[in-house]
This record gives sequence, structure tokens and C-alpha cells, in this order.
Amino acid sequence: MNKFSEEKLAKVKEIISHYPEGKQKSALLPVLHIAQDSFGGWLSAETMDYVAELLQITPIEVYEVATFYSMYNLKPVGKYMFEVCQTGPCMLNGSDNIIAYIGEKLGIKPGETTADGLFTLKTAECLGACGYAPMMQLGKHYREHLTKEKVDSIIEECRKNAEANN
Ligand code: FES
Repeated sequence: MNKFSEEKLAKVKEIISHYPEGKQKSALLPVLHIAQDSFGGWLSAETMDYVAELLQITPIEVYEVATFYSMYNLKPVGKYMFEVCQTGPCMLNGSDNIIAYIGEKLGIKPGETTADGLFTLKTAECLGACGYAPMMQLGKHYREHLTKEKVDSIIEECRKNAEANN
């Protein structure tokens, strides 16, 4: 079973300590982020049960939150996750074409991961960077003013990074 390292557990306890006794559920969002980062980029039922146990809440309380927010992944994801914004301003600036192009290039649909485990394509709602539409989030960074050419070079860059880290 997945367990936090000593260091991560100390971080989790520190976050929980910010809230009054009996209100440790308030630490759920940051603790789920740590869990997702620690256990392969997604939250299995087992991981969510572990988080529930740590926060002394019921598993259903964790599932409710984890299934509500798109930032939590409930199944394994690729090493590189393209979260393409599809809300109004991005859509008016061609996000549908970008999503279709990425899907075509990688042979996957939104919500799917390539067979080599490298890429996941997801759609997202407004990521607060409408002035840079169409855009997507890749890891901790935004990629803006997307075009097919930019998508090509981002995919290339990811493949090179993956090779370099192998
Ligand atoms: Fe895409 Fe706001 S609509 S970032």
C-alpha cells in the first residue's frame, strides 16, 4: 500500500496543524495534491482511503472532493499531461482545433493516455489566462497562443526530455 515518506508525512501533519481540532478536513485539498504528486500523478481508491484515514474523515468525503475537481486524476496519467482550456475565449481562438490536432497527432481522445505512457490529453475549464488564448497547462507551466506548429514543438520537446531522462 502507498504510504507517505517521513518527510511528506511531516508536511501533511504540518498542514493539518493549521486547522483547529476536528476541522482537519480543511486540509484535504493540499493533502490530495501531495498524495497525487507522491503516488504517480493520480489518486487510486487506496490512496484516497489512506488520505481519509490520515485526516480522520470518511473515504466518501475524500471521493466527493477528488471527483469534483478536474485537477485530481482518478486514473493513471502520462508523464506529460496536456490540459487544454476549452472555455469561451480559448474556444473562440481555436482551442477545438488545437484539441483535435493534439488528439490526431498522438492518436488519443481527451481523457486518454498514449500507449507508451508519455502523453495524456485533457480538456480544462478557464485557467485564468484568457488573454493568451488558446492555451494549455503542461505540468506547472502554461503554454500560450497555441498553434499547430507550437504543439508540434511542445510534443517534440517532451519526447526529447523523456529520452534524456531515461
Ligand atoms: Fe482559456 Fe480563460 S478561457 S484561459
